Amino acid sequence: MMRDLFEKIYKDKGPLGKWASLAEGYFVFPKLEGQISNRMKFQGKDVITWSINDYLGLANHPEVRKVDAEAANDFGSAYPMGARMMSGHTSLHEQLQNELAEFVSKESTYLLNFGYQGIMSTIDALVAKDDIIVYDVDSHACIIDGVRLHMGKRFTYKHNDIESLEKNLERATKMAEQTGGGILVISEGVFGMRGEQGKLKEIAALKDKFNFRFLVDDAHGFGTLGKTGAGAGEEQGVQDEIDVYFATFAKSMASTGAFIAADKEIIDYLKYNLRSQMFAKSLQMQLVKGALKRLDMIRTMPELKENLWKIVNALQSGLRERGFDLGTTQSCVTPVYLKGSIPEAMALVKDLRENYGIFCSIVVYPVIPKGLILLRLIPTSMHTLVDVDETLKAFSVIRERLEKGVYKRLSASVAAAMGE
Ligand SMILES: Cc1ncc(COP(=O)(O)O)c(C=O)c1O
Repeated sequence: MMRDLFEKIYKDKGPLGKWASLAEGYFVFPKLEGQISNRMKFQGKDVITWSINDYLGLANHPEVRKVDAEAANDFGSAYPMGARMMSGHTSLHEQLQNELAEFVSKESTYLLNFGYQGIMSTIDALVAKDDIIVYDVDSHACIIDGVRLHMGKRFTYKHNDIESLEKNLERATKMAEQTGGGILVISEGVFGMRGEQGKLKEIAALKDKFNFRFLVDDAHGFGTLGKTGAGAGEEQGVQDEIDVYFATFAKSMASTGAFIAADKEIIDYLKYNLRSQMFAKSLQMQLVKGALKRLDMIRTMPELKENLWKIVNALQSGLRERGFDLGTTQSCVTPVYLKGSIPEAMALVKDLRENYGIFCSIVVYPVIPKGLILLRLIPTSMHTLVDVDETLKAFSVIRERLEKGVYKRLSASVAAAMGE
């Protein structure tokens, strides 16, 4: 019997949507107000914001704001109109590409309007039906969606597990010998949830044994890792072994847009084959001029990254000294793992925000195993040691309250309503 298309939607709101009535406006879709900074307002209260990916503190930097405003004044927010290929190309787009290429030590780059669609199209354009994709099982949704577009075979390997990758490369190689195709391996430079760096060096070393090309999504590494800030490839000394490098402007660059970098011949090909760029309006000038300014500041103001790491080190070592479990982070991403149910996690986060003025993201099952609470903190160059100190003190108190069962009692009615 046929059904109304919407019937399933009326019945099942999806794994996150089902929490909407309990969580919306507070735990999800919260409204942070005020200028982007280490301290903002949430529901009228001052909070230390540990959930904004403005790693280098550029989002609200006066010099950046000035260039953004001037560009808006000079060009409006429409210019240029049309897709790059048709009528949306400018010398400033080219200049930004050239400067990005030099910064990440690649021959060439191409701008992407959004990282998400851009990397999907990159994966789509790099592989044909005969090719095989081998990718980390914990990859970001945009990589998974890119792989979904692929008409041929794909294998996941266990997260950051080189033995598992080798096994899958053996399988993929056998298959490729039959199909006559090639192999694309995909990893992230930094895994954004847990903060581990992808094992880029070990993966690159497998090129001695296997024939594959290597794509790295370095959304969290760009600007934060490596001597010059060129990312996880620079940090691990394998930038040359990365065949296609990707980074977004959504984090260290504090903007919108992204880019891919590779040998000139590969970028020339992608330029004519990235469907999400060929059939979409060009990145507007305000973003292009804004990105040129931000890149210039990343290159010339090493103190931004130094201050970021001063805060990262103070926060992470302070938490570790107090016995908190930060898992396996090797980056600025600071995950704090606690034990508790989803209702307890909600009560705990509410306590942190209302009584200690600390705003961080909360991650629970099914993103992490049941019974674990992950509080995710993103330090930035804007934070101060006072912010760190207040946060460390608050974390010690909330852990004690969690262990004493305070949040269990506070959340008993929510737990009952949720059937937990
Ligand atoms: C690892 C990773 N890749 C890609 C993206 C998508 O980039 P964008 O926000 O530019 O669409 C993000 C989020 O910003 C990300 O965290």
